[in-house]
Amino acid sequence: MTTAIIGTGGIGSAIASQLASGGETLLLSSADPASARTLAAQIGRAAVVALDNRDAVQGADAVVLALRFTVLKGVIDQIAGLLAGKVVVVPSNPVTLDAHGNLSRVLPEGQSSGKVVAGWLPSGARLAMAFGTMSADLFRSSAHRSPEPTVLFYATDDDRAGQEAERLIRMAGFEPVKAGGFEQSGRLEVGGDLHDLVVGPAQARSLIGAA
Ligand SMILES: NC(=O)c1ccc[n+]([C@@H]2O[C@H](COP(=O)([O-])OP(=O)(O)OC[C@H]3O[C@@H](n4cnc5c(N)ncnc54)[C@H](OP(=O)(O)O)[C@@H]3O)[C@@H](O)[C@H]2O)c1
Repeated sequence: MTTAIIGTGGIGSAIASQLASGGETLLLSSADPASARTLAAQIGRAAVVALDNRDAVQGADAVVLALRFTVLKGVIDQIAGLLAGKVVVVPSNPVTLDAHGNLSRVLPEGQSSGKVVAGWLPSGARLAMAFGTMSADLFRSSAHRSPEPTVLFYATDDDRAGQEAERLIRMAGFEPVKAGGFEQSGRLEVGGDLHDLVVGPAQARSLIGAA
């Protein structure tokens, strides 16, 4: 299977490296093509640099939008015509950093980022919020744990998107656990109770059930 990774910064490069190590073929795209080229060179044969965002989507079965929340809608608008039937995976947290390094939420308190992103997508696109539940460093260091795998939580209202998110999460070296539908996506974000947790499946399921 081929997955497009749009955005090859902190989390996009970590997701790409983990997926490639699991055997996924990747099409990479970023605002500055040099960034995608550097990552492709690090990954090797499994990664190809796309001509642009649309070219990446056209060649892929699923698309990971590893973008800051504030640029997400603009890129979705650019690729919208190509998304029918495709699974779109979004790791973005709805936060921004000011010049002093202070983090703030860009959506009103309590508003679900999953529902907002779902509203930006064209009909026929299938969304899962996944891969943004831990920092890039923790994500890299927690993959392929044994004997108990680390859980990556995801949220979706779409069963097929959930199946594809689970396949990608396993490919990246984690065990998938669904936190719930989009109304639960706040639990996965920076500041949410399921963010930056390194837990195994049993503890993850009890955390979901406890909520
Ligand atoms: N970094 C983490 O540890 C982490 C962990 C979990 C979740 N997240 C979430 O993931 C999202 C991305 O974070 P990040 O840290 O990876 O940000 P980042 O390092 O700034 O990377 C963002 C990437 O988006 C690319 N980009 C910007 N505009 C684009 C466009 N129009 N078309 C294609 N690519 C475009 C940039 O390209 P260029 O490099 O070419 O400029 C860059 O590669 C954020 O919402 C963040 O909250 C981050």
